[in-house]
Amino acid sequence: MHSPTFVSIAPKGTQTDSIKAYLEDVTDTLLASLPAIGTLSADERRGIIARYTAVLEGNFIYWMTGAYLAARSEAARSIITDNLLEEVRDSHPAMLRRFVVAADALPTDTDAIAVAPDLNEVRLFIGRLSPVPILATMAFFESWIQRFMPYLEDLAQRQGSSENEYTQVHGVCDIAHSEGLFHALQAEMALAGNSHESEKSLYEGVHLLRALIESIFTGRSSMALAA
Ligand SMILES: [Fe+2]
Repeated sequence: MHSPTFVSIAPKGTQTDSIKAYLEDVTDTLLASLPAIGTLSADERRGIIARYTAVLEGNFIYWMTGAYLAARSEAARSIITDNLLEEVRDSHPAMLRRFVVAADALPTDTDAIAVAPDLNEVRLFIGRLSPVPILATMAFFESWIQRFMPYLEDLAQRQGSSENEYTQVHGVCDIAHSEGLFHALQAEMALAGNSHESEKSLYEGVHLLRALIESIFTGRSSMALAA
């Protein structure tokens, strides 16, 4: 796996490319850790859909709003605004709810509790409103969501659902969102320069979000395992 550092003598474009390569590797490793879909029981399939929903439904727009509040460059704010407009205008939470109801996988208290510790860590990270680390996190989030959609759609179909608007919109249309957020990240990095704060924490949110995604997959918190 690549492990680029934030401080580099490389031009900004190259620096963003190396961050993008690292984030793609994180996504590759996450997706490779998923069990073969045919080996999952109906209850295990339901659990992944439910935990994904418990995380995404009430938090995605909130965290993207955090990215907007943190961003300092006009370029990044404009890109995030377009993203938020689509989320709100087309009500992606309503779209996700239709998807999860059709798969009969509404989150229960057990599902919410399973993701709660890692979810809390990401919330606290977002609350610090550090521009470059937040943009790196949301760029990673968008690209991971986009690449996870075929698996999520397959899970739902195996649960008897034929509702695929959410997975189609986020699997195809979010390619543009994902690219846009990398441009936003580049704009924020250009404005921040090689500040010490950004250097230290560039991947902090990415790694917290990775742990949260792992808890979506497994139903277990990495923090509980470490305790
Ligand atoms: Fe969305």
